[in-house]
Amino acid sequence: MKAKPHGPIPEGFDADTEGRLLIGGRSVSAWVEEAGETPVFLYIADRLRQRVARLRSAMPERLRLNYAVKANPFPPLLETMRELVDGFDIASGGELAMCEAANITADRISFAGPGKRDAELAAAITAGVTLNCESEGEVERALSIGSEIGRKPRIALRVNPEFELRGSGMKMGGGAKPFGIDAARVPELARYLGAQPCDWRGLHVFTGSQALDQAAIIETQGNVLDLAAEICTTAGVGLPSLNMGGGFGVPYFHGDEALDIERVGEALRERFAHLPDVLAETEFHIELGRYLVAEAGIYCCRIVDRKESHGEIFLVTDGGLHHQLAASGNFGTVVRRNYPIAIADSFAAEPEERVNVVGCLCTPLDRLGDAVILPTAREGDIVVLFCAGAYGATASPAAFLGRGPAKELLV
Ligand SMILES: Cc1ncc(COP(=O)(O)O)c(C=O)c1O
Repeated sequence: MKAKPHGPIPEGFDADTEGRLLIGGRSVSAWVEEAGETPVFLYIADRLRQRVARLRSAMPERLRLNYAVKANPFPPLLETMRELVDGFDIASGGELAMCEAANITADRISFAGPGKRDAELAAAITAGVTLNCESEGEVERALSIGSEIGRKPRIALRVNPEFELRGSGMKMGGGAKPFGIDAARVPELARYLGAQPCDWRGLHVFTGSQALDQAAIIETQGNVLDLAAEICTTAGVGLPSLNMGGGFGVPYFHGDEALDIERVGEALRERFAHLPDVLAETEFHIELGRYLVAEAGIYCCRIVDRKESHGEIFLVTDGGLHHQLAASGNFGTVVRRNYPIAIADSFAAEPEERVNVVGCLCTPLDRLGDAVILPTAREGDIVVLFCAGAYGATASPAAFLGRGPAKELLV
């Protein structure tokens, strides 16, 4: 079998003089020892802070930054994000409860996503969360629940635009979609809301996720601004707030290149300098999940068995797709490719043998590194998968085969 490359290791990970991977001046193996068990996700608070700071310096000051909680709702991470970002985008009543537990106030939270149940709507309206409504039916339910409980719902409309985010890993706008309300019907609904007992918050447009093409993001942001202005002009309503979506991707695979956020920021600054009157007073938000947290996390698992089959070496770990579904290639990718991967205590060593790093689940789908070239590793060594801070622990089937969830630690 030919060797296959693995993805790029994110910038800023270093080794000590003995070649061991370091986090905050301490070896990963020491952190794993402190955690007391493998597998474990380590989320690095300093990397979160640096990421947000860099993004803020690239973006126009007027732009507010929302964190999409679905990417990683680990409570200590959420508490760290509370101090770093402006808003939080949730997708369920469960995420609302997590935000409340992290002392995030409702005025910073918006709730998007299809299939909001009545109890979730009631909890969000009671708390004062903004609802990004996904259909006319959901608007009606929100209004009627609001009048039942005597609270004016804060309502924004999620628009399903005619355009999509080119090159995004997951497209969430354009054509028939379960997300949002078709753009052509939004002006009438916005006008209707003007006469209802609700607090009109504005529009939300989320067109896709995991895009690495800055030109596509710039084009989409321009389209979103144009569309929002057109909807509000047609409807004759104001626009207190516009959530412009996000879609900023991270490089997971060989050949992927990091997004040029300075260019995105410059283009947005230019657009903000020439806004039409209808958007002059609008509060603008972007909402990002993986871009903020993916590269701040690593997943560490231990090699339990080193074996050979038909001339191939298999490093069998105690981790797997039940914690890192995305790295196994089973979360929305068409062709499986290798995430960035390393052996913790040989981080600086020369790669020298071709191995297959697999998980402990009894399925051929459970692959963490396919025909990758790594330094020689033995039973007991720690394998590290990078870009594990988003869509890991909570986006993987932890209950599958009874192995249980991985430990998580913010360091
Ligand atoms: C409405 C909404 N917001 C934010 C996100 C977060 O996407 P990402 O983590 O790629 O930034 C998603 C992802 O599906 C989404 O559907």
